[in-house]
This record gives sequence, structure tokens and C-alpha cells, in this order.
Amino acid sequence: MNLSLIESPLLDWYRQNARDLPWRHTRDPYKIWVSEIMLQQTRVEAVKPYYARFLEALPDVYALANASEEQLLKLWEGLGYYSRVRNMQKAARMIVENHSGQFPADSAKLQKLTGIGEYTAGAIASIAFGIPAPAVDGNVMRVVARLTGDRRDIFDPALKKEYGKLLAPHISKTDPSSYNQGLIELGATVCLPKGSALCSVCPLSEHCTAFREGTFGEIPAPKQQKPRKIDPRTVLIIQSDREVLVEKRPDKGLLAGLWQLPSMDGHRTEEEVLANAGNLGLDVVRIEKLPAAKHIFTHIEWQMIGYQLTLSALSEIPKGMVSASLERLEADFPLPSAFSSFLPYLKKKKTKQ
Ligand code: ADE
Repeated sequence: MNLSLIESPLLDWYRQNARDLPWRHTRDPYKIWVSEIMLQQTRVEAVKPYYARFLEALPDVYALANASEEQLLKLWEGLGYYSRVRNMQKAARMIVENHSGQFPADSAKLQKLTGIGEYTAGAIASIAFGIPAPAVDGNVMRVVARLTGDRRDIFDPALKKEYGKLLAPHISKTDPSSYNQGLIELGATVCLPKGSALCSVCPLSEHCTAFREGTFGEIPAPKQQKPRKIDPRTVLIIQSDREVLVEKRPDKGLLAGLWQLPSMDGHRTEEEVLANAGNLGLDVVRIEKLPAAKHIFTHIEWQMIGYQLTLSALSEIPKGMVSASLERLEADFPLPSAFSSFLPYLKKKKTKQ
């Protein structure tokens, strides 16, 4: 198949069928960047409210560079993969310090910024600056694998590079933004995974090898899933009359530096939990088991059991923990969504008679 044939039908189709998305009303590289980072692990519909709120709070690179960590985590709460927003702040500081606050209009220079890889650099370069640089995400991988009838593993990073090189000379010179977004949009709305491809409405079907050969259900080959590591955990709601205890996770690794409900490795018995609480100097007057919950991360699955511990009073706060009222918990200690199944069991403050 000849990739030079797709430009014209792709651009026509995109101009008529592009979804009206908030980040398609701007060419501000900062806003394009925010949208692309959010869209990396999150669906379009879920991103929309976060995108609006983030830009209202932090409208430009200077605001992002100067934001407090707490504000960043709060704005990102629920999106997951917090390293994305931490890296964005590092990149924002680099742009302020090394580029006078202006995004470089160059894909290679963009890739020198923390957290900006080939895909994101290509997306910013093409959408914000009209540079014909490739932007190959998972959607585009699927479209190109089918167009070319390629059965190789699309999760192989080397193939992503290869597709970038393959596409580069064919990217529209007149409208690189619509060309790249057209490929992304086609993958997201028409060239759907597995047997769900909507070839009858695809503008590229007459150029598509997988359509001609009837192999679009098999190409690309499904991902070979590595089994997730199962991580048993015990999560504790430790409350006195008015306050709940939270602790900070380690600075490295999963959910680095975020607040959590105090947790222990493994599934602990009531006796073990009480012994541990005793060692921490907590005076537990009541312990109740909570329903189990699980949370799935990319490579790890937390299988959580939980206990609710009621304290007589909070005289001594264990090292590494902080106590907060429920109002403050919500405002100042964003808990990762992994803990959300336990939040309904937080006891509201007793009302005085
Ligand atoms: N996914 C990644 N980039 C996107 C964009 N610009 N529009 C819609 N979905 C996307």
C-alpha cells in the first residue's frame, strides 16, 4: 500500500468528522500539552472536566512552574499516574528557565523536556506549531498496522519508531495538525480494536490491506498480557471522635509521596492490627472488619482488606502520620482513588446533642 494516497481522504474526513473537543479550539502549545498528557492514560470524556479545571487554575507555564505540590496533586486527583503532573512541572520550570517561557517549536527540542516523549513532542509540534512531525500513539499504531497489513507486535517500542519514520515523509505539509489528529481520531472512532472496526464508514478502506484481505479482526495482534503482581494489603481507618489518621507514602515507587490511609503489607488478622496499633501508642476501643476491595494498577493489583479502628482519644500521633478532620482530609490530603472503596466508612463527626 502507498501511504502517500491517504492524505487527501484523511484530511477531508477529519474536517467533516472531528469531534468538537475543548483542546481543538486552541493552538496554544501549553494547552495542547496539558491535553495530550491527560489523554495518555485517560479517556476523552473523563479528561474534559480535568482539562478545564487545570487550565483555569494554572493558565500558563509560569503558573504551573510556581504551583505548590499540593495544588498539583489536587488538580490531578482521580486521573492517576501522578508522575505525569510532577514531570509536567519539571518541564514547565525548564521552559521558564531555558526557553524564556516559550515552548520550543521543534520536536527534538521538545523531547528534551521531562516527560515529553516522541509522541507528545510530535503532537505539540504538529498541532500547536504546524510542523509535520509524526505523532504515533496506540490508535495510530493500529491504523498503520491495518493499512500496511503488518502482523508484528504493536506494543514493541521499536515498531512505534519504525511507524514514525514510515509516516514522516507523508505527513501533510499544508495541515500537519489535521493529518495527525485525523489518524488519532480514526483510530479512536472508526478503526476500533479487534472485530469492532467500522470499515464501512472508513475513508481509507480502499487503501487498507487488512480491509482488502479481511484481516482487520486479527490485526494488530492482541497484547500478550503479563499477569499482574498480586499485592495483598491491609488498610486501616483509624479515627478518634473528630479526626482520622493519614500517612505519607514513600518518595519512590507506586503513588510516590501521596497520602494514604495507614496501610500494612499482607493480610493482617485483627490481633496483628491491634498489636501494631498498641506498639504505635494508639488506644483502640473498637475494631471492625470492613469489606475487602481491590484496585488494579498497570502492573500490580492491590487486594485489600480493611479494619476500622476507633480510638478513645488522639493523645499521641504516631511518627509519620498526620491527623485531620474529614473536611481537611478532603481539602488538603488528596487520597489516591485506590482507597476510595474505604472512604464511605469514615465516620462523620458526632453531632453534639
Ligand atoms: N488522544 C490523544 N490525542 C488526542 C487528541 N488530540 N484528540 C483526541 N484524542 C486524543
